[in-house]
Amino acid sequence: MKILVLGSGAREHTIIQALRRDPDSHEILAAPGNAGIAADADIVALDPTNPRVVTDFARSSDIDLVIIGPEAPLVAGVANRLRSAGIPVFGPDSDAAALEGSKAFAKDVMASAGVPTGKAWSVETSEELLLALDQSEGPYVVKADGLASGKGVLVTEDRQAAIEHAEFYLQHGPVLVEEFLAGPEVSLFFLSDGTRVMPLAPAQDYKRAYDNNEGPNTGGMGAYSPLPWLPKDFVADIQRTVAEPAVAELASRGMPFVGLLYCGLILTDDGVKVIEFNARFGDPETQVVLARLTSPLAPLLLAAAQGDLTAVAPPKFSKNVAITVVLASEGYPENPRTGREIDGLDALASNKQVRIAHAGTGFDGTQLLATGGRVLSVVSTGKDFEQARERAYAALEKISLEGSYYRRDIAQGVSP
Ligand code: AMP
Ligand code: GLY
Repeated sequence: MKILVLGSGAREHTIIQALRRDPDSHEILAAPGNAGIAADADIVALDPTNPRVVTDFARSSDIDLVIIGPEAPLVAGVANRLRSAGIPVFGPDSDAAALEGSKAFAKDVMASAGVPTGKAWSVETSEELLLALDQSEGPYVVKADGLASGKGVLVTEDRQAAIEHAEFYLQHGPVLVEEFLAGPEVSLFFLSDGTRVMPLAPAQDYKRAYDNNEGPNTGGMGAYSPLPWLPKDFVADIQRTVAEPAVAELASRGMPFVGLLYCGLILTDDGVKVIEFNARFGDPETQVVLARLTSPLAPLLLAAAQGDLTAVAPPKFSKNVAITVVLASEGYPENPRTGREIDGLDALASNKQVRIAHAGTGFDGTQLLATGGRVLSVVSTGKDFEQARERAYAALEKISLEGSYYRRDIAQGVSP
């Protein structure tokens, strides 16, 4: 198959690495990619958020499948145009991608579909904001309605901080005030062909920057899979109570969801609730989910893209565990320092238990450089979390990037 992958993160690098493990060999192209992706795919210089440019390229290059990694091209309507041109695309049209692009839309879909979620108030003015905060006992949860790369959410005991955060985002559009939900979080992905869904393996993401869940929210600093502490029927229950009703609701609104439905869940004392939906693979959860995938990836994504998941067998996952630890630049997430040299990766190339997925990396012709906040993901597998942790952290010690940091508590204390 000739496959075009859009995006430039560790998620896209992971998807490409998984495609390369398929028994059938594929011709893989990527736009815009990064220094790591360049070693595993042919880089194409095009704007991945421009629907016309992507579609013209896919058509003239006889692409069999386009996989859209990040949310921006989805919201920009890249999938719409590809689909109209008859090119199979894994990723929803912009109207269905609003499940991620607009938190108010997501809440409306959940309400209609009977999907369990916390209470929320959408506010547009300072007066409405204060009224909504009065309804909440705190901690306060305030979210920008649109895409904000993980930065739009503030969870705080400090009412004044909640007001300031909300006021900032109110300048750009509506803000959501939400009921605070307490409990462990789970990321569960479903492939969707528009009407049917198929679950992948559950994972847990570490959203805060520092150990013990301290510091600011980030895009994600690490993850592990599976989650041995989940109730036995968890995945089937979420399929029945969350994924299927949400996909059915979107289909009934004439906006079928074709792609990856990311269910961000929280296990409260009052049952499982959805915190958020995303319309794409999660980063860094994808690194651990696909590390455990033993079925070929391309046929699964193609079947979803072609609207018929019954054409493929459900994905299989290894009993081995996987963890990933994100190496971040100094100053991430607020103000990451870029342009510094990364060393030590060559020595890891022959290590079979550890894989490196590149995110913010670039190559200046002689040297690998950090170009972003999340620089790379170290992904390891093992028979248990202790072994996977030893492997990942031993690898991280060999990588040097001035000022960089990573969490040391990923999958710590998780028993098999
Ligand atoms: P989101 O971008 O909506 O996933 O929010 C980012 C993170 O903020 C989540 O992963 C949670 O850790 C936290 N969060 C979001 N909404 C809530 C909520 N209603 N209650 C408690 N924590 C939340
Ligand atoms: N890891 C969180 C996300 O991908 O949104």
